[in-house]
Amino acid sequence: MTSNLKDRHFLSMLDLSREETLDVLDTAKTLKSGGYPPDKFPLKGMTLAMIFQKPSLRTRVSFETGMTKLGGHAIYLAPTDISLSKRETTEDIAMVLSRYVDIIMARVFGHDIVEDLAKHATVPIINGLSDWEHPCQILADFQTIIERKGKLDGVKACFIGDGNNVAHSLMLGASRVGMHMTVITPPGHEPDEKVKTQSTQIGAETGSIITVANDLGAASGADVLYTDVWASMGQEDEAAARRQVFTAYRIDGETMKIAAPDATILHCLPAHYGDEIDYETSRLPGSAIFDQAENRMHAQNALMVHLKGRA
Ligand code: CP
Ligand code: NVA
Repeated sequence: MTSNLKDRHFLSMLDLSREETLDVLDTAKTLKSGGYPPDKFPLKGMTLAMIFQKPSLRTRVSFETGMTKLGGHAIYLAPTDISLSKRETTEDIAMVLSRYVDIIMARVFGHDIVEDLAKHATVPIINGLSDWEHPCQILADFQTIIERKGKLDGVKACFIGDGNNVAHSLMLGASRVGMHMTVITPPGHEPDEKVKTQSTQIGAETGSIITVANDLGAASGADVLYTDVWASMGQEDEAAARRQVFTAYRIDGETMKIAAPDATILHCLPAHYGDEIDYETSRLPGSAIFDQAENRMHAQNALMVHLKGRA
């Protein structure tokens, strides 16, 4: 291992260099193939605090089970437990938790909340999803793409749907590792201009081509097809209106005809079958959606082992 991620925060895919990303993925592969031998506990005696402002299945269970497999312990803090920013300031929460635990993971609305936690905590902060990014998801996605395609470098990935937190992290992460990324959205739902600029600039150095389009034809020849819900957590009120606008921006039999014949299908889940993906397509042999879900745990475990200097 060449990376030194000890005591760093992981708020964004931008927080890891290409080499650091690949090192974490290498550790994730080792952990997965090693099957977590019970006599080898890299995070023995350590505690992870998990702050949630939003619901979760994968993030909560993968982090909690992951800590158990690494010999540590995780504490779930529900939205009503600490009422972030209402009952107590983010600063005080960060300072208090830092006196008890070894790592803090937070799933929040505003990205400024994870940034504020990181500013005041003396232990690593992990972004378990903010409105801006979902970097833990992308580590798992990259592990899954390597399993299916053998590499990231030069792979043509295409995200169809909303230019949301997942799309942002995919663009930034892809630009770092040399993967090509096309994001196809309805007009007006493109990823943020800042992310487009950042990822395009990084991509110019790594050979990664980052494209934003409104035309589904841009998915032509894609090695990886990825989608996510049309309305993210916090946008529930917009769901009906968005369904009208996003109808064509989905993965189904027609999209599969445009992509490469052996295209891998990804979805971070939860899925709304019949909207952004149809059930039949999600169950094709090319679908890796449950590998992705499993890899959340291995990729995050690898990340935590690096952040605590135990890689
Ligand atoms: N993909 C993902 O983050 O799932 P949860 O919202 O269930 O954690
Ligand atoms: N974009 C989705 C991802 C869920 C894992 C959301 O933020 O709700």
